[in-house]
Amino acid sequence: MARKLAPSILSADFARLGDEVQAVTAEADLLHVDVMDGHFVPNLTIGPPVVKSLRGHTDLFLDCHLMVDNPGVLLDDFADAGADRCIVHVELGDPHPLFAALRDRRVGVGLALSPETPFAAAEPYLADVDLLLVMSVHPGFGGQAFIPDVLDKVRAARAEIDRRSLPVEIEIDGGVHHGTAPLAADAGVDILVAGSAIFGDPDPAAAARALRHAAWPTAA
Ligand code: DX5
Ligand code: ZN
Repeated sequence: MARKLAPSILSADFARLGDEVQAVTAEADLLHVDVMDGHFVPNLTIGPPVVKSLRGHTDLFLDCHLMVDNPGVLLDDFADAGADRCIVHVELGDPHPLFAALRDRRVGVGLALSPETPFAAAEPYLADVDLLLVMSVHPGFGGQAFIPDVLDKVRAARAEIDRRSLPVEIEIDGGVHHGTAPLAADAGVDILVAGSAIFGDPDPAAAARALRHAAWPTAA
């Protein structure tokens, strides 16, 4: 099982984005980029131009979480911008065409589940993805409270991925802080996403370090 930390730039100061990313680079395994269109979720954030700018400033793996109604029309732009992976929501329907488009462009494939969506919705696609993102808040905003019920879904995913020896990482996204990170780690997540717990802290690097230690105290 991997033990990775993905700071979410949603809670960063966008006017100082390059500096914010620089501040957490030594503590980050990848960077989580929340893309929202004002339709799939009632919030509007950033898109391919910002990913392109980030690509010019960092070598970190850029993981783009697409909370949009029509991701298919954006995938070429994200690929061209330098996204390393795009995560699409299973609630939109059959994701196979999106997966094919991403594989064609050699972009990694992730599948996301909103809190109410059961693991069964993602299970048929497990062999086709690199990442399963379990949302632990309702998609749309940073700074919400962690929904502990989703931990059962993480356990179910962990068991099935291990049973089938699939090369799929499990990521949890939303409400992750020093109190909830150990719960997610115990349930079997590989990757913790954290926005406000990192960028809401006056010292984001120290906050990221502390979060990693809270989740995996015995890791090097
Ligand atoms: C919410 C986003 C999350 C968000 C998490 O829709 O998908 O990635 O950045 O923020 P925190 O860690 O503040 O809950
Ligand atoms: Zn996200």
